Amino acid sequence: DGFFSKEQTLAGKNVLVTAGPTIEAIDPVRFLTNRSTGKMGFAIANEAASLGANVTLVTSVKNLAVDERIEVITIQSAEDMYKAVTQRSETMDIIIKAAAVADYTPDAYRPHKIKKSNDDKEAFHFIRTTDILKTLGQNKPQGQLLIGFAAESQDVEKNARLKLEDKNLDMVVANDISRQDTGFGVDTNQVTLITANDMKKLPLVTKEETALLIWKAIIALPLIEVK
Ligand code: CTP
Ligand code: CA
Repeated sequence: DGFFSKEQTLAGKNVLVTAGPTIEAIDPVRFLTNRSTGKMGFAIANEAASLGANVTLVTSVKNLAVDERIEVITIQSAEDMYKAVTQRSETMDIIIKAAAVADYTPDAYRPHKIKKSNDDKEAFHFIRTTDILKTLGQNKPQGQLLIGFAAESQDVEKNARLKLEDKNLDMVVANDISRQDTGFGVDTNQVTLITANDMKKLPLVTKEETALLIWKAIIALPLIEVK
């Protein structure tokens, strides 16, 4: 529409997006993951490329279409994602963490298959992962925009606002994962965009349309200079 020139709006901006689940290996046959498919994050990355940004996408997902201009960094675990993101974060103008990062990971990878006959209760011990987004918020360079997602099944807006504050974000995309049409794997979404002073409920539309609406809201944030 009108004042939105599609090719140029994010020209020259370095954008980092994370998408999809992480995969935490337990032993040679088992892993811990979650229901995220990466569709929302890929839509955000693809839209950023259409708007002219230099896009880096950090993801474990390999089966979704990705704009050929995007640099894809393939990772597995939350720790891999942490390293890939923190190595690149300083030079980024905008970071959007759409990934569903595992909160728990095995205390140690077991190089041999855990056997039923062994002490299997002893074998399954999980520890907390590092919060990547919170780390980024604590070290946010001047002028960088940091956007997180909040996957909530209850008290969606309240919980999302807590994450905005706790992680020092410029915007949080609140996603109600209890609903069939806004949760994992489906092609539609209906999110609420929350900033310190504002809250905007977006309509139920495709994830591609949601991605464009999220970018319009980011571009309208006070910090960003648009050419
Ligand atoms: N996130 C992250 N690193 C983690 C966990 C979460 O970067 N180890 C990011 C996600 O990518 C997302 C945001 O934090 O952008 C919120 O994730 P969510 O799972 O909704 O919240 P948590 O802070 O993990 O809290 P909880 O799962 O207890 O609701
Ligand atoms: Ca979590």
